Amino acid sequence: MTAYNDGGRESSPGESANGAGSAPAAPRDDAASPGGVTRRGFLQSIGASGLAVAGTSMMSAAVLADEAPPATPAPAEAANASGPYTVHFIVNGVAHKLNVEPNAVLLDVLRDRLHLTGTKKGCDHGQCGACTVHVNGVSVNSCLSLAVMHDGDQITTVEGLAKNGKLHPVQQAFWEHDAYQCGYCTSGQMMSAVAVLHDSRVPADDHSLREAMSGNICRCGAYKNIVAAIQDARGKMRRA
Ligand code: FES
Ligand code: FES
Repeated sequence: MTAYNDGGRESSPGESANGAGSAPAAPRDDAASPGGVTRRGFLQSIGASGLAVAGTSMMSAAVLADEAPPATPAPAEAANASGPYTVHFIVNGVAHKLNVEPNAVLLDVLRDRLHLTGTKKGCDHGQCGACTVHVNGVSVNSCLSLAVMHDGDQITTVEGLAKNGKLHPVQQAFWEHDAYQCGYCTSGQMMSAVAVLHDSRVPADDHSLREAMSGNICRCGAYKNIVAAIQDARGKMRRA
């Protein structure tokens, strides 16, 4: 059973109707805290910064050519750390040369060495999709991939989706559709969504979309809005 069930999120017997599980019911969007901060306002503030900084199957590298701008030199940071293996790869258009341990995981290198913390560590076992990045145009769970395997690769993280200060249509649609609650899964959802929308093998109907996105788990159960956002982005990308 996939988490992207038709008709919205799946529920277990112990979960409440609002999808919040055993946690207290979420406040209404317009319910202000004692400090005057509304839930919507809070989410918009973190969403704007998160999506902007960020700015989520298989597909050809060609269809994501816009993710591979000419490489620019990396800041001096990365090669300084220790490690017996040297890898060169391009991340979001920036060329990096890194010394890494043989067991260094790509996710950890992206987050801890390159400080690209938009990519999240959820399960660390290839089961949740929070760590999804694109490698040469293909979606990869970066928690399952060793950095030494990526010498010469083009990598795109969620920070590389936006172009020239403009959100990717998928990011914009997630924003407009409130397609997140805590936001922890969101970068992985968006990376997978971009990949799915470029994959001509995935039909455009909701059922096929849910199936294609089933590797990305949202513990908050925002599936209904995520599907709506991706379909909205599909339409806008077609018209662009
Ligand atoms: S953290 Fe990689 S799949 Fe969950
Ligand atoms: S928005 Fe919280 S896990 Fe998806």
